[in-house]
Amino acid sequence: MPTDIHWWQRGAIYQIYPRSFADSNGDGIGDLPGITAHLDHIRSLGVEALWLSPFYPSPMADFGYDVADYTDVDPIFGTLADFDRLLEEAHSRDVRVVVDWVPNHSSDQHPWFIESRSSRDNPKRDWYVWRDAARSGGPPNRWQSAFQAVGPAWTFDETTRQYYLNSFTPQQPDLNWDNPEVEAAMHDVLRFWLDRGVDGFRMDVTQKIAKDPELRDNEPGLRHDEDWQPTIHHRIRRIRAVIDEYDDRMVVGEVYLRDLRRVVAYLNTGDELNLAHNFVFVHLPWHAGEMRASVDEFERLAEGAAWPAWFLANHDHPRVASRFEDEPGTGARRARVAAMLTVAMRGTPFVYQGEELGLPDAEIPPSRVVDVDGRDPERAPIPWRRPSEAGPGAGFTSGEPWLPLVAEAERLCVESQEEDPDSTLNFVRRLLRLRAERATLQGGSQRSLDAGPRLFCFMREGDERLLVALNFTSREAPLDLREEQGGRAAVELSTHPGRALSVVDLRDLVLEADEGMILRLS
Ligand code: GLC
Ligand code: CA
Repeated sequence: MPTDIHWWQRGAIYQIYPRSFADSNGDGIGDLPGITAHLDHIRSLGVEALWLSPFYPSPMADFGYDVADYTDVDPIFGTLADFDRLLEEAHSRDVRVVVDWVPNHSSDQHPWFIESRSSRDNPKRDWYVWRDAARSGGPPNRWQSAFQAVGPAWTFDETTRQYYLNSFTPQQPDLNWDNPEVEAAMHDVLRFWLDRGVDGFRMDVTQKIAKDPELRDNEPGLRHDEDWQPTIHHRIRRIRAVIDEYDDRMVVGEVYLRDLRRVVAYLNTGDELNLAHNFVFVHLPWHAGEMRASVDEFERLAEGAAWPAWFLANHDHPRVASRFEDEPGTGARRARVAAMLTVAMRGTPFVYQGEELGLPDAEIPPSRVVDVDGRDPERAPIPWRRPSEAGPGAGFTSGEPWLPLVAEAERLCVESQEEDPDSTLNFVRRLLRLRAERATLQGGSQRSLDAGPRLFCFMREGDERLLVALNFTSREAPLDLREEQGGRAAVELSTHPGRALSVVDLRDLVLEADEGMILRLS
């Protein structure tokens, strides 16, 4: 068993969406001082690091993923001094800090783009992707924006009468990574934050920074607008080389591809990404067999080299407690099983803010919708305190929150859950503490076991043997193991508060509806 694992392999990374975490000045929008004020909450979870979604100056067309200056802080979030203080306070609590890096596109308000669009012979013209209309008129090709509501990935610009490429909103023009000056400038952005002391980066839409330079239309089975081979891998290697100029840093890529072979290709060589978010996994249904098959496929493709990253929620996907709820109550229980799954597997678990509370999606009335792509419900602010005492902002803000909070803030807020030993918050703390204490959970091997159709079961083996058994159904399920028959095991943790932590005979073990357990084999 490897004993020399890195910090980014050891424990969980906690994602903060700054607009929705904590507001320090009553304007209804979360900010950096708000995060600093709540670092003890993050520390109490026992995570290794936090990842901050963008806090850079931005017109907020995509709520910060449209960056107008890569090396500063938007006044709505604070100042660079606030960032330095957050970094220092996090480090003093042994929590590392990962920042979002958005290399594929800038804001249309970035000075680079303002210059680029000003004339066809501007020195920055080629920093973005400009093309004439198609011969028949209209956009240069059929590439589409990732946002359905946007449609074609091209916007016509009157000033110079050409189209520019935008893989997301028209306010997010794609940078031209075929231009070495762009690549060098974006490397300098990395160095700016590395010099300030950040521990790593989450790289936004990694797969998009190399496209077919001939801009050919996509074909069945071959996309020309992303993941362009082999260029993309050369570019990632050069990014990794910049990060490796510094000690002990890491880069996790958002590799939004639905083919695991292509995802693992960013990891197996050892000199590209340290971690890649797995979007095949995030789109699976709540089904033991499908989860197992996907995990096994990753392990097979990883060939012992690639280190997995597991997540089931972020700021772009409906929350687990809502997505997997099929009858009232199942979502809240499944949120705990999901946490146990991601934390107990070999790999790095990512926890999205609010998952430790088992938050569901918020209901957003049509008049409050602000996102182009339907992602407001999972971005609702964190309820810190009981609205009955702290007012309708639930301790998130003393003002008007930018998005409505979840309906059940009174019961689900941090304050209420702190006081209840059986709460999801206290369960997640126990779960992460177990991961922090057990080398086998961090670096041990993993192998799936046959345990009947309702359960996903796997063994973690290192200096001890830990059995993880997860019931993916809302019915009781006997542990139907082909091996380990008759063995005895100690229950280390269950998602169900009523389960006694005692020694059991595996032959007699029946999991309750929506229950997950970690057992130590004797
Ligand atoms: C990533 C982000 C998402 C954003 C998009 C464009 O997918 O997670 O929030 O809209 O990139 O930057
Ligand atoms: Ca604020």
